[in-house]
Amino acid sequence: PTFPRIPDNGPRPMTTKKPLRSQAWFARQDKMGFYYRSWLKNRGFPQDQFDGRPVIGICNTWSELTPCNSHFRTIAEHVRWGILEAGGFPLEFPVMSLGETMLRPTAMLFRNLASMVVEESIRANPLDGVVLLMGCDKTTPALLMGAASVDLPSIGVSGGPMLRGVYKGRPIGSGTNTISMSEQLRSGQITLHEFHEAEASMHRSQGHCMTMGTASTMACMVEALGVGMPGNAAIPAVDARRNLLAREAGRRIVELVRQDVVLSQILTREAFENAIRVNGGIGGSTNAVVHLIAMARRIGVELDLDDWDRLGREVHCLVDLMPSGRFLMEDFFEAGGLPVVVRELAENGLIHKDAMTVNGRTIWENNRNAECWNREVIRTVGAPFKPNGGIAVLKGNLAPDGAVLKPSAASPHLMKHTGRAVVFETIEDLHARINDDALDIDETCIMVLKNCGPKGYPGMAEVGNMPLPPKLLRRGVTDIVRISDARMSGTAYGTVVLHIAPEAAAGGPLALVATGDLITLDVEARSLHLHVNDVELARRRAAWTPPAPHADRGHLKLYVERVLQANDGADFDFLVGKSGAPVARDNH
Ligand code: FES
Ligand code: MG
Repeated sequence: PTFPRIPDNGPRPMTTKKPLRSQAWFARQDKMGFYYRSWLKNRGFPQDQFDGRPVIGICNTWSELTPCNSHFRTIAEHVRWGILEAGGFPLEFPVMSLGETMLRPTAMLFRNLASMVVEESIRANPLDGVVLLMGCDKTTPALLMGAASVDLPSIGVSGGPMLRGVYKGRPIGSGTNTISMSEQLRSGQITLHEFHEAEASMHRSQGHCMTMGTASTMACMVEALGVGMPGNAAIPAVDARRNLLAREAGRRIVELVRQDVVLSQILTREAFENAIRVNGGIGGSTNAVVHLIAMARRIGVELDLDDWDRLGREVHCLVDLMPSGRFLMEDFFEAGGLPVVVRELAENGLIHKDAMTVNGRTIWENNRNAECWNREVIRTVGAPFKPNGGIAVLKGNLAPDGAVLKPSAASPHLMKHTGRAVVFETIEDLHARINDDALDIDETCIMVLKNCGPKGYPGMAEVGNMPLPPKLLRRGVTDIVRISDARMSGTAYGTVVLHIAPEAAAGGPLALVATGDLITLDVEARSLHLHVNDVELARRRAAWTPPAPHADRGHLKLYVERVLQANDGADFDFLVGKSGAPVARDNH
């Protein structure tokens, strides 16, 4: 595969007259200047490092507890070399890392906290620009949200997906096959030894999940938004071209500082509209809905659920990738990667071609010559992999502020369906009863899960794709309608209504649903209706008591008190918007 050439960005004169922000630290010839320079000199930085060259932060989410980001020390070194080559002064710093597989009760609980760490770390330090290293699901929105609230020149560098998983000669994908193989183990179809072998075979290289789950989706969003370099989405983590891209990003951020191109000039309304269209084209994760709304509102762009429905409605899914298809990110890369998707969408009028990107070219200039090397993996708009790759936004008396469903992951026969509710009050209630064959449920029922939203779980965990009752699985039922205020993993699928707002724990109508109620899902009409009259709902509301608080101190208390609902991006209310980069006072 070839990628558009990135112009060589050797040292160039400043094109802005504005003194660099870092000079408020390093140009001081007094006690404070001594503080700012002297302690840095302990690493061997000579006096000329402080001469006014752009100081670039490398914001690193490396952690052994975030396996998807475990190669980020290497990527940071390549960014560093690029910055030095372009005449900048690189300074790497760590921020809170979020490992999707390790963190309990869910990594999403910490996205806003991590974004605060990023924001404050950038603002408080003598930085003129920043390169954001991100990979595992939540690290991408956390870093972009934090950087957006400061609004310095910024480039995102994704860590790249793992190589394709291969076991017994067949591809296996992150998450998607984890679920199927654990079921094979439970039913005795594979041994524990095979199970352990598959663990090492699935995740056999560094990088993030190599299905089109949330991490790959967000890496595509970075490229589609123009905040990453061309090719950012799909180059495998261990491919040398990932290091080349990191080095080019290091060179390029110095140029962005010299030209004073800040993040808000990249993250425009047009950029977000492009990203929503691309999400449809890749059949991307529902999690992107929450993250992009939160990011947009940090930078000052109005974006809401209706935009997702309107813009994604006419976009077909072009890529045959797991969870809904056959291939993996390595195949996507070898087929040409995201540039092929962007070109295809743009040629069909679905992309704002003039949106500027961090490499100094428009998204169209970057992708106009993209070639596809495998039409099985990346299809055309005329002959797509699946129709309707976008996100359907549902409203009704059960979701006054909206809910989402991914039509490309749903079953056609359930897209218009009325069924009897089988209600689970909590995730524990679900686990306690789902395996009981006495549970009164059949494939026409609608499973309803409460108290798994932002405040309820807390952290809006990926539990919305509830496991089906074994007695239905044994009869060959593979999907029934499931609705909740939770999210689901980008690697999952099914007729699953997610992100119901307001959530049950906030007193949304979801809290009032009782087993036996009739519910109608109508995706075409974009509606979700609970057939219970207002008098009865008022009676139930009077009897409803909110769940007890999760904590009386700490981050958890702050989170539950201040988190917004899913339709508003589940950000903290006090983090919406930006404060810019100024800091008023010296530290001594
Ligand atoms: Fe990190 Fe999937 S667990 S990207
Ligand atoms: Mg996940």
